[in-house]
Amino acid sequence: MKLNIAVLPGDGIGPEIIEQALRVTRVVCKKFGHELVTRTALVGAVAIDHVGNPYPDETHNLCMDSDAVLFGAIGHPRFDNDPSAKVRPEQGLLAMRKKLGLYANIRPVIIFESLLDKSPLKLERIQGVDFVAIRELTGGIYFGQPQGRSENGDTAFDSCVYTRMEVERILELAFQFAMKRNKRLTVVDKANVLATSRLWRQIAKEMEPQYPEVVVDYMFVDNAAMQIIQWPKKFDVMVTENMFGDILTDEASVISGSMGLLPSASIGIHTSVFEPIHGSYPQATGLNIANPCATILSAAMMFEYAFSLMEEGALIRKAVEASIVAGAVTEDLCDDKSKALSTSAVGDWIIDYLNK
Ligand code: IPM
Ligand code: MN
Repeated sequence: MKLNIAVLPGDGIGPEIIEQALRVTRVVCKKFGHELVTRTALVGAVAIDHVGNPYPDETHNLCMDSDAVLFGAIGHPRFDNDPSAKVRPEQGLLAMRKKLGLYANIRPVIIFESLLDKSPLKLERIQGVDFVAIRELTGGIYFGQPQGRSENGDTAFDSCVYTRMEVERILELAFQFAMKRNKRLTVVDKANVLATSRLWRQIAKEMEPQYPEVVVDYMFVDNAAMQIIQWPKKFDVMVTENMFGDILTDEASVISGSMGLLPSASIGIHTSVFEPIHGSYPQATGLNIANPCATILSAAMMFEYAFSLMEEGALIRKAVEASIVAGAVTEDLCDDKSKALSTSAVGDWIIDYLNK
């Protein structure tokens, strides 16, 4: 098979972790006889510095023209502390999501047995956790209009807006996920307060009869935030709107022990994007210390979701798991920092394993 991949390393540790994921992708392609074509483009702060736009047209055209996008991270502290900045790296990510129609962000929350002691939760709460969070990604308060300031600048407003079409398509995807898994779906909303949430709940209830085997549970977001910590095992598939999903998936990611482990897929109308859920970790830029596993696992999701190459994805997952079991890990997963491997050394270990 020919794999045409757009590579967007972005900012901070992006280039370092993407490099390891690309090495892994190359080895797997070679092993399974696939032809790999990669083309790299600018995104984020680095794109602002070079061309003044965090998601340049050339980058968008390359994404549209590829079968999958492998994405590193974006964000730079220079912009975080400057509320008056005219362009921000994050706008590049939002523009990419909107222009590629990436309405669903899929974040599997899994636990590595060998890392159970790294979780901030008690062993009996965390053992066996395995759920998928599905976050709506191109609607809600992130994109709703109007957004802005009053003339005197002393009032600011954001709008949370959802249409039936936007809600139906993400719920449909969530029901399908539930059907493929343990047939339990939790719809997270704030229907006791928000009109958009009441629309979500209404549509989910309308759709329930189409999926009689799926047991649907409705949960307010504040309660969900609590349940993720108290009873994370209860969840199978969770679906929610854009901002709730942003917050809950960060929360869910740390119960696995490190944010550096969790991958994600953003799928929708055009080319799908695969990226680690952690950010650009600017303090670690260029130090070769960041955990590359979330990005390598994102490459595994890419094989599976973009190319239906399940065996390839499973092998990558197995290699990452083996590296963790062997203690070939970066400092975020290492109690004794002197034993921690560098980003590229973890890549080396995983590649050796794949070549065995
Ligand atoms: C994420 C990130 C982004 C978001 C930021 C960088 C705009 O936090 O992918 O979760 O809020 O969606
Ligand atoms: Mn986030």
